[in-house]
Amino acid sequence: MFRTHTCGELRIGHVNQEVTLAGWVQRVRNKGGLVWVDLRDRYGVTQLIFEEGSTAKHLLEKSTTLGREFVVQATGKVVERASKNDKLPTGEIEIKVEKLEILNSAKVPPFIIEDETDGGDDLRMKYRYLDLRRNVVREKLQLRHRMMQETRKYMDAQEFIEVETPVLIKSTPEGARDFVVPSRVNPGEFYALPQSPQTFKQLLMVSGFDRYFQIVKCFRDEDLRADRQPEFTQIDCEMSFVSQEDILNTFEGLVRHLFRSVKGIELEEVKRMTYADAMKFYGNDKPDLRFDMKFAELNELAKGRGFSIFDQAELIVGICAKGAGEYTRKQLDELTDWVKRPQIGAKGLVYVRCNPDGTFKSSVDKFYTNDDLKAWAGAMGAEPGDLLLVLSGEERTTRKQMSELRLKMGEDLGLRDRTVFKPLWVIDFPLLEWDEETKRFHAMHHPFTSPKKDDIPLLETDPGKVRANAYDLVINGVEIGGGSIRIHDRPTQQLMFRHLGFSDEEAQKQFGFLMEAFEYGAPPHGGIAFGFDRLCAIFGGSDSIRDYIAFPKNNSGRDVMIDSPSTIAEEQLKELSIRVSIEPKS
Ligand code: AMO
Repeated sequence: MFRTHTCGELRIGHVNQEVTLAGWVQRVRNKGGLVWVDLRDRYGVTQLIFEEGSTAKHLLEKSTTLGREFVVQATGKVVERASKNDKLPTGEIEIKVEKLEILNSAKVPPFIIEDETDGGDDLRMKYRYLDLRRNVVREKLQLRHRMMQETRKYMDAQEFIEVETPVLIKSTPEGARDFVVPSRVNPGEFYALPQSPQTFKQLLMVSGFDRYFQIVKCFRDEDLRADRQPEFTQIDCEMSFVSQEDILNTFEGLVRHLFRSVKGIELEEVKRMTYADAMKFYGNDKPDLRFDMKFAELNELAKGRGFSIFDQAELIVGICAKGAGEYTRKQLDELTDWVKRPQIGAKGLVYVRCNPDGTFKSSVDKFYTNDDLKAWAGAMGAEPGDLLLVLSGEERTTRKQMSELRLKMGEDLGLRDRTVFKPLWVIDFPLLEWDEETKRFHAMHHPFTSPKKDDIPLLETDPGKVRANAYDLVINGVEIGGGSIRIHDRPTQQLMFRHLGFSDEEAQKQFGFLMEAFEYGAPPHGGIAFGFDRLCAIFGGSDSIRDYIAFPKNNSGRDVMIDSPSTIAEEQLKELSIRVSIEPKS
């Protein structure tokens, strides 16, 4: 037997047993003739001891110095430790080594492979396979594994069939750019990698699969952020003969199952909020509900008092930061600088301190009486000791700026606790979104989303007002998933493409196959896709999805370990009938 136990397994009950372990040398300590080695594998760390005069010690001395990360096999007796380590599950015992075999030597690793490492981000990415040896990193992938298994368990129990859809496809419009793959046998033609399996899952509904899911890689060529990777994973789902309500309930069930089985958390009721309310009260279509700080509109109360900035503003909006009335002048100045940064772009910040004695102190005392400010405080539900923060300007941008400020205040006041989970369904999204750049409407979700029946007449008169049967699942301010009830007949789908500025020919060329399928008995259907990496990161209490992906890309979309993307040989380009001329980046 190569090993009788793992390095995380042995306890006091194993004392006197003869065992063989195999693993990596984490640390070697040499003290007065005795040598200790911490041996590590995926399951834990076990201490080996080499005693003066033993054959194993002899061998140790004869061999090249036993270094960090050497791979060894050690046989010996389990003994009780003289000084126990209660931080280690195996800390009560050690192995008195009788036989040692060095299975492989190792170069000195570029960083320390322990929970606390001295390796910077770039170095750890370059040697990701070594970083993955660290417990803290491996545990994140184990969490991912657990989530994947539990997802499959739930979906299978709900009669969903897992179907794989192709990776070499034609463009799917999810709003990002496609990654493309040249076809050698069809010169000048390209496949696109799926931004999602959207059209395929709808075709599977036409095929009668009724309930489909897939844990699937998706590819999007978009600007990267902490919660975005160019290739990421979705739990992609579709159902036939269902209402929006059925879908929300089924997938609330999935999320509930995952919290229960993976984290042992019984989720409270998943709240629902319309898109319109989310924007009105939180300035954001993915509000973080771990804290309140709802927007209060102050136009009625704050205009007409001679403060020209407010008088000219389209919107005056405030939030109440509970208990922050003691913020110092310096802290308030810092907040003002923060909102004025180009990333936020506010012109300034008005504050009102709600003093403990019931009076108010504001940055606009010149224009407003104590009674005026009392009315503001009343509108915001403020109490003595609170701080009111007010922004003003053009409506959309002001809401956006206030949304950022709200999140910052939540963070600064410690209200965004990573062990608290507040899921929310945001419903009734607009169907279309006006794009200033192209001067036309875009599908807010995607072009296959159905409009709300009552709003269809508005398509002709006021397209921006049409609401969709679309929903997002938000947890703690992160968009975890999104979906919709689909269009399932050709005339409506064709009409939708027209509204999106497609000519009938273009629509036919790109999506003729789907519209034709709708003519062969397409059932009413709808679905959702969850960002699996994001779900894992939320469960793990992290903002970045990178740690939950075994081999992620960096912020410029590069894999620095395998060095991709990279150029390809002239020969290969020729084969693909591609001529490359690179323009230097300005
Ligand atoms: P959508 O485009 O909203 O919907 O994507 C679904 C979810 O996928 C996650 N996500 C990402 N995660 C990591 N990196 C990215 N670059 C990235 N882009 C998206 C988000 C998002 O909520 N076909 C539709 C679903 C449907 O209608 O059924 C779709 O893909 O968590």
